[in-house]
Amino acid sequence: MSILNFLLLSILLTTTVSAILTVDYPFATRSGCGHFGYRDLLFCVNDVLMFHISSGSYRVLDIDYAFQTLTLSDPAMSTCNRILRDGKGNGFEVEPWRTPYLNPAPDNIFMLLGCHAQSPLFQGFPGKHLPCRNVSSMGCEACPAWTSSGSYKSERHTVYGLSPPDCCSVSFDSIRSINLTRLKCQGYSSAYSLAPIHVSSPNSWSYGIRVIYSVPGDFSFCRSCEATGGTCGYDADAVSDLCYCGGWNSTSNCDKGSNIISSVGGQLLPSLDSIFGGLWICCLLIWTSVWQISK
Ligand SMILES: *[C@@H]1O[C@H](CO)[C@@H](O)[C@H](O)[C@H]1NC(C)=O
Ligand SMILES: *[C@@H]1O[C@H](CO)[C@@H](O)[C@H](O)[C@H]1NC(C)=O
Ligand SMILES: *[C@@H]1O[C@H](CO)[C@@H](O)[C@H](O)[C@H]1NC(C)=O
Repeated sequence: MSILNFLLLSILLTTTVSAILTVDYPFATRSGCGHFGYRDLLFCVNDVLMFHISSGSYRVLDIDYAFQTLTLSDPAMSTCNRILRDGKGNGFEVEPWRTPYLNPAPDNIFMLLGCHAQSPLFQGFPGKHLPCRNVSSMGCEACPAWTSSGSYKSERHTVYGLSPPDCCSVSFDSIRSINLTRLKCQGYSSAYSLAPIHVSSPNSWSYGIRVIYSVPGDFSFCRSCEATGGTCGYDADAVSDLCYCGGWNSTSNCDKGSNIISSVGGQLLPSLDSIFGGLWICCLLIWTSVWQISK
């Protein structure tokens, strides 16, 4: 095999994989487009789609519109093969106003690594009341590197408060915020199961943060807007739904003349030009995202 062939093969096998991510309702990368619950959330940085919340920025690995999930990756997150204990991981926390729209999936597990005995995780949870537990048959025990490395010697003879486990796995629901600084942890990992497939080896788990999104009213506003030729968006000042109907805006859909909110001289009968105007404002965006596979 020539060196060139070898290099090409290496690149194919080990470094990159690309995927097309479609940014569609309720998401958008432009202000005023999509649903207001997802405003200022997705950004395209050097052709990579990024997700930004109060705990930090994450790479978007996938958006599944059928199952209403997003899969995110934090480069400072550990996997079973790659342990990072520098305390730099984002963890996961969303702004309180965003919680009705975004939450980690119930079958997503967070493994908190090297947490200090004084961590709030272990306070008020003596013995069996510890929040650490297996989630969707995934847990810390699956990866020896999580439970036996690190600076804390584990002496498993007493109440966890005095001698905490090296790895504590939790579901997001049990603590509502993964903040490594506040929890006094050195690192974390996050994985999810692709139910109903039962995966026993942590090497074949899917690493990343699986987030579920939901749109209040089950998309009815947007369906009605699009069915009448409009494009879905929101009013950035009033933070309310807005249907772009070309030359005019509506708070319901493009058939409802009475709900027009438009500047003086807004027209009632949209011209062909203005119909395409709405699409022009909030066009569908397709990004190509290339990321490293750390395997
Ligand atoms: C995490 O907790 C620390 C310490 O309580 C705090 O200063 C920081 O703002 C928190 N981070 C986020 C994203 O809330
Ligand atoms: C998780 O499951 C493993 C194996 O099934 C078990 O050994 C371990 O005690 C469980 N851990 C917790 C925290 O429940
Ligand atoms: C419709 O709403 C958008 C965003 O708020 C605004 O920029 C535009 O001027 C509005 N159009 C009319 C005709 O009022």
